[in-house]
Amino acid sequence: MFKFPKIALLLTFCLASVTVFAQSTKYPGLGRDATAMEVAAWDIDVRPDFKGLPAGSGSVAKGQDVWEAKCAQCHGIFGESNEVFSPLIGGTTAADIKSGRVANLTRADYPGRTTLMKVATVSTLWDYINRAMPWTNPKTLTTEEVYAVTGFMLNLAGIVPDDFVLSNKNIAEVQKRMPNRNGMTTAHAMWPGKEFGNANKPDTQNVICMKDCVTETKLASFLPDFARNAHGNLSEQNRTVGQQKGADTTRPEGNTGQINAAASAAANSAPNSASIGSASTAKPADSKSDNKAVLALLSKNVCMACHGMDKKIVGPGFNEIAKKYPGKVDYLSGKIKAGGSGVWGAIPMPAQNVSESDAKIIANWLANGAPK
Ligand code: HEC
Ligand code: HEC
Repeated sequence: MFKFPKIALLLTFCLASVTVFAQSTKYPGLGRDATAMEVAAWDIDVRPDFKGLPAGSGSVAKGQDVWEAKCAQCHGIFGESNEVFSPLIGGTTAADIKSGRVANLTRADYPGRTTLMKVATVSTLWDYINRAMPWTNPKTLTTEEVYAVTGFMLNLAGIVPDDFVLSNKNIAEVQKRMPNRNGMTTAHAMWPGKEFGNANKPDTQNVICMKDCVTETKLASFLPDFARNAHGNLSEQNRTVGQQKGADTTRPEGNTGQINAAASAAANSAPNSASIGSASTAKPADSKSDNKAVLALLSKNVCMACHGMDKKIVGPGFNEIAKKYPGKVDYLSGKIKAGGSGVWGAIPMPAQNVSESDAKIIANWLANGAPK
């Protein structure tokens, strides 16, 4: 009797796996095995023992060029970063390079925690830059550029000299100089924490509550209203990959915008249905969808990472740009493609990888006042 549920469970598992198997043969011609080249394209991770690291090299000097062209606009000339992006370099000392433990991490009064203070393995730095940076154009760096720019960052942090050439041959030596190389611990159960003896015990442990359970959780802290939209609309700034959409921070929390969307759909459809066949009233509805298309372009080209609709982020708000250049379509589309600096401040805008026609559409929209 007691054994029965277990057997039932086992049977369910067996049936489930049979079903999975059956499905793959039930629809022949659907799907195929990944090719060796496809697997190789995904298999880019570089491990702490440097397994997976492609052979190659890059000099600090070349890394400085890469940095200034492709990284500095977000992370700052010295990796100190502007207010929006997290600082990468700083807070490490020559003593840390000796000890392998960043002293400032133990100081509660130290104002920041930079990447170089925290990262224990140089392979992680290499791997992250190779797979994820520059943020607006990931996986566009050559192997040499990744070596070079990683070397330049290590140079900024005083880990390697100015004339250094980082390569697959000497990277293991560099690892021995990483300021926080002894700062990584697996003495917590996330890893899975061999030190605890019980390998399966997680960091946090919930006890299943069966009676007299607390029904309401009290939040200890929350984001104040004024901070919610401080850096522009997060949903517009997300890259168009994966499931992470970002919250629409122009609305109060919890307001998904469904009601508003429905209301405006109703508002849009009313004049349309009343004006079938009438060109003059159809126009606003058309240009509204044109504006939508422009917003999609801005989003697709990750312009919103640096420009808010009506506020400065890294670069000026699109409303300000529109105000400054009414009718100047050619100037604007040229600037969008080429980037530039000095018009709005010290931070440069990198050249954008947009097609001629996309740049024209966006420029047109800006020259017309950037309507929403
Ligand atoms: C358009 C802005 C932008 C550009 C350009 C850019 N980054 Fe980043 N970088 C970011 C953002 C945003 C993050 C944080 C991403 C996240 O946490 O998902 C980041 C994170 C990083 C990190 C990891 C920081 C950490 O502690 O987790 C490294 C290292 C880094 N960038 C290096 C580079 C290098 C090298 C380049 C140039 C090749 C570059 N970035 C170009 C915006 C940018
Ligand atoms: C990495 C951040 C960043 C990204 C991404 C970015 N911009 Fe910019 N943009 C800036 C900065 C900073 C300025 C101000 C440059 C200056 O002062 O001359 C600027 C300025 C501009 C200007 C005004 C140029 C002038 O001469 O006044 C336009 C137009 C513009 N950006 C459009 C775009 C468009 C469209 C996109 C997307 C295709 C985009 N930007 C992506 C940072 C960025």
